[in-house]
Amino acid sequence: MTTTSPPPATHRTRVVVVGGGPAGLLTSHLLHRAGIDTVVLDRRTVHEIETTHRAGILEPDSVRLLTETGVYDGGGQRVLTEGDRHGGIFLRFGGRSHHVDFERLVGASVWLYPQTEVFTDLHRARTRDGGDLRYGVADVQVHDVETSPRVTYTDADGSPHEVTAEVVVGADGSRSACRNLVAGNTRYTREYPFAWFGILCEAPKSAPELVYTRSDRGFALISQRTDSVQRMYFQCDPAENPDDWSDDRIWDELQSRVAGEDGFSLAEGPVLDRSVLPFRSFVQTPVRHGRLVLAGDAAHTVPPTGAKGLNLALADVRVLAEVLERALRKEDLDLLDEYADRALARVWKAQHFSYWLTTLLHRAPGAPGGDFDELRQLGELNSLVSSEAGSTYLAEGYTGWPTR
Ligand code: PHB
Repeated sequence: MTTTSPPPATHRTRVVVVGGGPAGLLTSHLLHRAGIDTVVLDRRTVHEIETTHRAGILEPDSVRLLTETGVYDGGGQRVLTEGDRHGGIFLRFGGRSHHVDFERLVGASVWLYPQTEVFTDLHRARTRDGGDLRYGVADVQVHDVETSPRVTYTDADGSPHEVTAEVVVGADGSRSACRNLVAGNTRYTREYPFAWFGILCEAPKSAPELVYTRSDRGFALISQRTDSVQRMYFQCDPAENPDDWSDDRIWDELQSRVAGEDGFSLAEGPVLDRSVLPFRSFVQTPVRHGRLVLAGDAAHTVPPTGAKGLNLALADVRVLAEVLERALRKEDLDLLDEYADRALARVWKAQHFSYWLTTLLHRAPGAPGGDFDELRQLGELNSLVSSEAGSTYLAEGYTGWPTR
């Protein structure tokens, strides 16, 4: 006897957004404001997304996107009340910290506001506005993007569904399945011989702003979360197993990387979470194929040095929503190519910035040429902090470029 599975429940919308992280939710939010219906699909549950720690720095343009597009709807701008404004960063090398004052150099600040909070704010906004969000779904598959797109999936109860749409936005992150549907794509990548070991710990703040440290033992970053919880990272081997690291070993490593003649040291406490973060640079083009467009990490990934990933994703979506609204209104999807041109210009600036800051501060294990690279790196850091032009270049890149 053959059993036939029930036909899928079918739905129709204008845009299906695959991926319900910040990029997908912001797409859905901005399109909603333009009167365009969306369905957002994500394999993960809301809880899984809320509890995955990611980077924590927002450029001023990202903050404006949250505060000026009705995310908070007059109900208190959480990013401004809960976030911490940072007017600069410290570059630490040769055992001393050098402040790079963004406010003075370029008249801009960044905000320490973790990605998980951005997700929470956008998720609340979409829920408040009646958005169609479907988390925890399985077998998401995108079909027929060259003609009339359909997305099929199975819901949490195992029932099949199909959503038809005019356009599919692939905002499904660094392990994107949507990107594989772009025929004839080119992938530009750079691998690094190191990764980051990241911790969350229960301790008071060790510094008022972020400390990016270059040491003979490799890079370390001292970041913050709240008055009693901090986030820190140190450069490690990509194959490192977090379980091999006791709290004591972690603190010894971090302390030795930041130690110096000025006596700076970290306030220690129990390590609440530890993980090894992937580290690579990646861009795929084109970002559109027929009626499918990619946004955020699905189209490009940056190493975490400089915290550009989330900012780039939000900047993509700002342009995408504007261009997509026009393309749908004029029924001319070729207009989407404008999105690609505008977004990619910024993407490559950010690729360069993240790569540059990475190579400026990390130790390349076993590089040929003796200590040439180590000493050259110190030379570059010294020029940077002693030159107004050099420091201004860093400040411009860190606080972000205007969106065209
Ligand atoms: C973080 O706080 O998690 C963070 C901040 C800056 C970075 C990377 C991560 O460059």
